[in-house]
Amino acid sequence: MSHKINIEICETQDDVALLAAGKITTLVRNNPQSILGLSTGATPIPTYEEIIRAHRKNAVSFAEACTFNLDEYWGLGSDHPQSYRQFMNSRLFDHIDIPLWNTHLLNGKAASPQLECQSFEASILARGGIDLWLLGIGVNGHIAFNEPGSPVSSRTRLVELSKDSIKANSRFFDSVDQVPQYAISVGVATILEARTILLLATGNNKANAVARALSDPPGSDCPASFLQSHPDCTFIVDRSVGSRIETHH
Ligand code: GLP
Repeated sequence: MSHKINIEICETQDDVALLAAGKITTLVRNNPQSILGLSTGATPIPTYEEIIRAHRKNAVSFAEACTFNLDEYWGLGSDHPQSYRQFMNSRLFDHIDIPLWNTHLLNGKAASPQLECQSFEASILARGGIDLWLLGIGVNGHIAFNEPGSPVSSRTRLVELSKDSIKANSRFFDSVDQVPQYAISVGVATILEARTILLLATGNNKANAVARALSDPPGSDCPASFLQSHPDCTFIVDRSVGSRIETHH
């Protein structure tokens, strides 16, 4: 294999969550002012639960930490139940000691998406960049909402969601028609600037995307394949994804 992505294969989803949460809490214990990049979706939920558990055991404090999230649906305000702001509050922020003003999500109802995206990038830079970005992966190989076709140089911008992503995310809405068709998302370049990247993938339906991310020549067809160029990127996967990678190589 030519890529230098580290791969950790765990038996179960719970083991993935334990390992990922362990890496994040260790980082924050070593540097309480860590700048964390976070993601939404079903995959990181068990990891967030483990982080909350560690916090409740007094094993870690986020009082001085700061977070940035990958993306937000365009057109959904921060009070919309399906907004990623609500997801992050209810799944993580409300249960740990991070001050909400230190948690950054793109505003899906900003008057100017261009200005919103520029100021998000500027805030990341002003904080000194992301220490660790926790990522998931879409079935089509997207990272954040960098859909196939996204260039390696892409930065935070308004993007149109692919049919695959709209379908995949319809499980969080009452019907597929309610899924927004656009989002604002950090770009591939924004992600690659993080000092460490941790991508989580669990379940059979992610095996193909992970295999492509590891073995395709880096390119826009599978945006996650651009992670091959990152000096400190680890994929933590469960057995259903892991067996496919092992067979693949
Ligand atoms: C979403 C998000 C991504 C996420 C991916 C996988 O649409 N924009 O950040 O990693 O799709 O989501 P899930 O973990 O629910 O499969």
